[in-house]
Amino acid sequence: MSEQHSHKPWGGRFTQPTDAFVEAFTASVTFDRRLYHYDIQGSIAHARMLAHVGVLTEAEGRAIIEGLEAIEAEIEAGDFPWSVALEDVHMNIEARLTERIGESGKKLHTGRSRNDQVATDLRLYLRDEIDAIRAELERLQGTLVDLAEREADTIMPGFTHLQVAQPVTFGHHMLAWFEMLERDRQRLKECRSRVNVMPLGAAALAGTSFPIDREYTAGLLGFEGLCENSLDAVSDRDFVIEFLAAASLLMMHLSRFSEELILWSSQQFDFIELADSFCTGSSIMPQKKNPDVPELVRGKSARVFGHLMGLLTLMKAQPLAYNKDNQEDKEPLFDTVDTLKGALKVYADMMGAMTVKRERCREAARAGFSTATDLADYLVRKGLPFRDAHEVVGKAVHYGLTEGKDLSEMSLEELRRFSAVIDEDVFEILTLEGSVAARNHRGGTAPEQVRRQVARARERLDRHP
Ligand code: ARG
Repeated sequence: MSEQHSHKPWGGRFTQPTDAFVEAFTASVTFDRRLYHYDIQGSIAHARMLAHVGVLTEAEGRAIIEGLEAIEAEIEAGDFPWSVALEDVHMNIEARLTERIGESGKKLHTGRSRNDQVATDLRLYLRDEIDAIRAELERLQGTLVDLAEREADTIMPGFTHLQVAQPVTFGHHMLAWFEMLERDRQRLKECRSRVNVMPLGAAALAGTSFPIDREYTAGLLGFEGLCENSLDAVSDRDFVIEFLAAASLLMMHLSRFSEELILWSSQQFDFIELADSFCTGSSIMPQKKNPDVPELVRGKSARVFGHLMGLLTLMKAQPLAYNKDNQEDKEPLFDTVDTLKGALKVYADMMGAMTVKRERCREAARAGFSTATDLADYLVRKGLPFRDAHEVVGKAVHYGLTEGKDLSEMSLEELRRFSAVIDEDVFEILTLEGSVAARNHRGGTAPEQVRRQVARARERLDRHP
């Protein structure tokens, strides 16, 4: 950071220089310089509008725009003299503009304040990042759908209470994750529509006495609407909080997936193998292959939840309109965006490279009497009330536990000890394949249904809603 512009744009009413520590304490340029592209984009649109309504001459407007474009190139080349004395990204760029183009540069801030400027920058930034996040999310969803199709017939145990419950198909399990992510994608889309509204024109808080054309500026910036109240426009950061809430739900989902991947890749479950390129070893135990990626994603959900709580707290006691507190909105937002993009990218790549151990999954589904409900349903079809059927099967399971036999391993004679209505046809329904195939309705686990769900999921992704 250079100290070359020590003259502050707001210095007129001050007689003493800012305390050196206070200058650094109140500055945000170390982190908000990340917004430079959006700051310049917003300033160019503002300048064009000022020229359009005649507040600036055409020549002044042109000089400002060319100056801003040159500054953007300077920043991208790493040649920009960022200065902490100029506090934030906005004043750094504005001061540099005047340095480069002279008097016209000083007119850019007409009819504007940093208060509506920063809110605009943040909305433009977040709009782009939501689009990038949604694209990465779609890639992960696509990977899950491909995996679901590949494993539509693979049988694994379904769990409740983490106890074996009923057999399900691996593809069905993948599509459960797809659905959660699909809701996250919808939430981000809805959030984007409330982000994409323009604060510019609110100026400091009350609006401006210049004959601005807000619709014109909004059209240039691609905003879908205008903030209807200037006090609200510069003050509320609910659009950031809403994004953090959607991000928290998404990270909560990724954290749950992670938990399952970690369990499934353990020696005890052994359902999947993560590719070596997504795991790490131990510096002491030579045999180890650790699922660090899902563990880290599970861990990183914590910081995103923390940021949501942080921003709610930041906002909760602020009187209208702008307060400097809001400068604290940026780092949590940036960190959330980075965390989300990183987690989604690594997940899409990792899931694409995962191997399913079909035999192990099948074996695990055979344990734990997973077809007991099928036997109860069978008895109901033979005329027993469900509660009685439940009781009969419970006794059969008890017998199986003492004998070390699954229901499908018992002879017809053994089974008939529990109910005389049981016949030879019982064995079809006691198989794992029979059990999953029987759940053949929309939303059910049958392979046929999984294939239909896969087709519908692809349609939803292709339509990009
Ligand atoms: N750096 C400030 C922020 O991030 C910009 C707005 C400052 N406005 C002001 N009047 N101090 O919120």
